[in-house]
Amino acid sequence: MCQSATAQSLTVEAASAADIPFIMSIERSPGYQALVGSYDAIEHRRRMEAQTCTYLLCRNAGELVGFAVIRRDDDGMGTAQLHRIAVSPPGNGYGSAFLRKICRWVFSEHGLDRLWLDVLPSNVHATRLYEKLGFVREGVMRASLRVPGGRQDLVLMSLLREDWERH
Ligand SMILES: CC(C)(COP(=O)(O)OP(=O)(O)OC[C@H]1O[C@@H](n2cnc3c(N)ncnc32)[C@H](O)[C@@H]1OP(=O)(O)O)[C@@H](O)C(=O)NCCC(=O)NCCS
Repeated sequence: MCQSATAQSLTVEAASAADIPFIMSIERSPGYQALVGSYDAIEHRRRMEAQTCTYLLCRNAGELVGFAVIRRDDDGMGTAQLHRIAVSPPGNGYGSAFLRKICRWVFSEHGLDRLWLDVLPSNVHATRLYEKLGFVREGVMRASLRVPGGRQDLVLMSLLREDWERH
């Protein structure tokens, strides 16, 4: 049985190459492929080795339940992208508790000023999570995503340090 997340029960740690099979299994959870991208093991390893990428794992009560990828923008502007986040199973509060800790990591531990992301307009669940944490919708990036048979819009959202401190 899944235990709901609390601030105490959910912990965050850095991922290593040994965690790639877990990360790939979360990306490929039923129903997730239309919502979140997925890479093969070689691509994950390549990204993990990049200076600008940080892979984080989250555990609830000791059990691995999700991962996120934060990509610091390399222009010296103090901003980062939440490139990927996925937890499984959904709806137990893991995403909320994990994203709160990610925001602390970004703003408090790494002194960044802006965390941005993009999300499919159809991904209502993720959008609610982001709004709950104080992310603000900035607009639509038209036809940004290549999908089989065409292109899709993405909604751009961001959380600023001051939003996070106020929230
Ligand atoms: C998006 C995701 C990370 C959210 O994590 P989660 O643990 O499922 O979310 P939580 O249980 O913390 O719920 C967060 C909010 O989402 C909303 N929510 C919960 N279940 C929902 C559902 N079935 N449908 C729509 N919104 C829902 C609620 O507003 C909830 O906040 P509340 O419980 O305080 O009201 C997770 O569902 C996931 O990995 N989804 C697949 C991958 C994905 O879409 N990643 C994001 C790509 S941009």
